[in-house]
Amino acid sequence: MSEVTMEKIVELCKRRGFIFPGSEIYGGMANTWDFGPLGVELKNNIKQAWWRKFVQQRSDVVGLESALIMNPKVWQASGHVDHFHDELIECKECHGRFRSDEAEKENECPLCGAKGSWTEPAKFNTMFKTFVGPKEEEADTAYLRPETAQGMFVDWPLVAQTSRQRLPFGVAQIGKAFRNEITPGNFIFRTREFEQMEIEYYIKAEEWEEHFGMWFKQMHEWLEDCGVDMDRVHDHEIPDGERAHYSKRTVDIEFEWPFGRKELYGLAYRGDYDLKLHADASGRDFTYTDPNTGEKFLPHVIEPSFGLERTLLAVLLSAYKEEDVGGEQRTVLRLPSSLAPYQVAVLPLSRKDELTKIAEPLAQDLRKSLRCDYDVTQSIGKRYRRQDEIGTPYCVTVDFDSIEDGQATVRERDSMKQERMAISDISGYLEDKFCNNC
Ligand code: GAP
Repeated sequence: MSEVTMEKIVELCKRRGFIFPGSEIYGGMANTWDFGPLGVELKNNIKQAWWRKFVQQRSDVVGLESALIMNPKVWQASGHVDHFHDELIECKECHGRFRSDEAEKENECPLCGAKGSWTEPAKFNTMFKTFVGPKEEEADTAYLRPETAQGMFVDWPLVAQTSRQRLPFGVAQIGKAFRNEITPGNFIFRTREFEQMEIEYYIKAEEWEEHFGMWFKQMHEWLEDCGVDMDRVHDHEIPDGERAHYSKRTVDIEFEWPFGRKELYGLAYRGDYDLKLHADASGRDFTYTDPNTGEKFLPHVIEPSFGLERTLLAVLLSAYKEEDVGGEQRTVLRLPSSLAPYQVAVLPLSRKDELTKIAEPLAQDLRKSLRCDYDVTQSIGKRYRRQDEIGTPYCVTVDFDSIEDGQATVRERDSMKQERMAISDISGYLEDKFCNNC
């Protein structure tokens, strides 16, 4: 097995239709990416699995979808207008701009190689500004949200009232976030437009350690569910002085990417920072009344935050394998069947009518409960290789014997074992496998 590099992943993603460079026909747009037919399936499957695990399978988490463009007062109150800065430094020789925390470590300009020739660090707010309404005036300035979290804080009184939940309970949201990053890069690792999957878990202050521990475990369990290589996952306690302005404790969950060990997810104890700010700024009542004691107080918050694109990249890097099979090399994505774009592919050996009239209805039948591909072109060997490369766990081959015996061959992706069985049994056979898996 050889090492998986970013080049291999980027190439596979483009060739097989997972991820394309954005606006490619116009020369692309740096660090923007489009999710192709298989990429959007994989992304949606991750979102669905996440929603299922953290919202639908729990009694103490409810969902929310708040607006992307919110009243600018939200970002004033939350501290983002004043504090959501990166420090930018410029190379005096080539005028390349970088985040100071990254570039100064190297001392050398990554663009022209000039040594220690930096301007003084300047603060740069990474929120994207836009204008709401037909006039581009300062009074109409709004921001594209840099995190999904604030929607869950701002809506806290309404969610608490309508959901009738009692503490501890959480609000979850999946959606786009935008940051005008100074140095985006490393494929989909750091982009200016990305999706977050976040939970704001409201608790009593004195119970924070217990809930922090619970979410820490849940985040690791989720990574295992996704087939992420746990040997490459590490926890990094962020020391005092380096944490975000709102956080009392933060643990970054890091992954060993081909470009180094960096953040995958974050888990933060935000105290009552956010609810207090919004209560003060809006004048609304954000307190919770304990139904047993009648005590009124502001809940504290534990926030597990998951980047969707980073999840997808860690899943691909963990699943990608190159194997020697009888002297030939095959590339295979060992994706969990819950996430694979297709769970099964139906492959008639030839495009002749005798076979397609068996294979097409079989594929249609499988589509009722499974994600099923159907492919009649090229040799069967090439079709197996394609399905291996896109991570399809099972292939069903309909051949000329199928006409006589009503059976087809089911091939399993990882073991490459082939089993012949009655066509009428195949959907039940596969559904059993996937139910145990998801
Ligand atoms: N609400 C807390 C928050 O937004 P964060 O650490 O700034 O915290 C949370 O972001 C997660 O969002 C990160 O752990 C990462 O997975 C993802 N993320 C942040 N910036 C990103 C970017 N520019 N591109 C892709 N993912 C990003």
